[in-house]
Amino acid sequence: MTDTLAIHGGSPVRTEPFPSWPIFGEEEERRLLQALRSGNWGKLAGDEVAQFEQQFAEYHQAKHAVAVVNGTVALRIAMMAAGIQAGDEVIVPPYTFIATASAVIEANATPVFADLELDTFNIDPQAIQAAITPRTRAVIPVHFGGLPCNMDAIMDIAGRHNLIVIEDACHAHGAEYKGRRVGAIGNMGVFSFQSSKNFTSGEGGIILTNDDDLAGRCWSIQNCGRMPDRQWYEHFTMGGNYRLSEFQGAVLNAQFDRFEQQAETRERNGKHLAERLSAVPGICPQTRTADCTRHGYHLFSFRLDQETFGTSRETFLESLNAEGIPAIAGYPTPIYRQPMFENQAFGPYTGCLLDNPELDYRKVNCPNCETICRAQGVWLEQRLLLGTERDMDDIVRAVEKVSECS
Ligand SMILES: Cc1ncc(COP(=O)(O)O)c(C=O)c1O
Repeated sequence: MTDTLAIHGGSPVRTEPFPSWPIFGEEEERRLLQALRSGNWGKLAGDEVAQFEQQFAEYHQAKHAVAVVNGTVALRIAMMAAGIQAGDEVIVPPYTFIATASAVIEANATPVFADLELDTFNIDPQAIQAAITPRTRAVIPVHFGGLPCNMDAIMDIAGRHNLIVIEDACHAHGAEYKGRRVGAIGNMGVFSFQSSKNFTSGEGGIILTNDDDLAGRCWSIQNCGRMPDRQWYEHFTMGGNYRLSEFQGAVLNAQFDRFEQQAETRERNGKHLAERLSAVPGICPQTRTADCTRHGYHLFSFRLDQETFGTSRETFLESLNAEGIPAIAGYPTPIYRQPMFENQAFGPYTGCLLDNPELDYRKVNCPNCETICRAQGVWLEQRLLLGTERDMDDIVRAVEKVSECS
């Protein structure tokens, strides 16, 4: 006999909480105090941020790293360093955080949305190809939830059309594509260290690149347009103060010691969960491509095929939450459906409108992204994957229970 769902008064599958986030301890305290007592609180004075930049670059097999205040600014700086400007088009996925697309607006350029592959939630290389015009200058693939995009296909298209590739790896710390860490496969890669991210200092970001010239430009832009070894009050290019503080550097260095083990735990649990959940009719975990040699698992995501499963996503989530599993629906709309885009509320950044007087994001339609946002997408936060295999089995049991009662 099937148990009564918790939402109808039955006992929940789980009452224990999942691991909380962030995780910290004595090493974070020690490093923070050391930075405090040193009196060197800014990036230019101390060595915490410098040490972190070096470690993070090495870990991701990149030549250079420039740490900045957050991932949003990292994207902005990458756009500037790439020379993106009014008249240019930049191809982005519609299923991402607003910053991926707003960075293009801030560069006075035009974001062009290319649809996802339904099964991977990642930008479809064929849709990139179809979106290319003579004005296309760059593409920003987002490794959604930590699953690497099809980088071979993307780099091939970029090579043929002379496009700059900026990987948005804000979900993908430590993720691997064919054994190579993401972030420096394209011309530049950006990461976020915001509170929810798998690697965090509350706020923060970083840009990786193997290109000496781009690295120099990013460094200068994050430091008010200065140049190394030149006078403090000499400014050579448009930039700003986007430097990370030593306190954030201290926390990030301490988090490094925890990261690899956490990444391995997420990888193990994520694989186990995907394998077991895919046996439930109507549950389609994000497809892990053969090229993904390690998933970043910032999010464990799956699609709920309502017809096969037998219930709407709203009812599914209410039922699952009542069973003690904190699943969420994720991005509610494609980015182009956000009021900012529909109403062209771009503030002073009107470059895209001047160049395309006909531009109307209300006419954009990416069907796979619409389906995922409107009806099918479900996310579990990364902290859940830091639990035990038994915790994963609780998630599966709860989904099975909801399935049996639907
Ligand atoms: C895909 C993606 N890109 C960019 C960002 C921006 O990073 P931050 O929040 O550090 O500005 C985020 C953060 O949520 C993100 O998820």
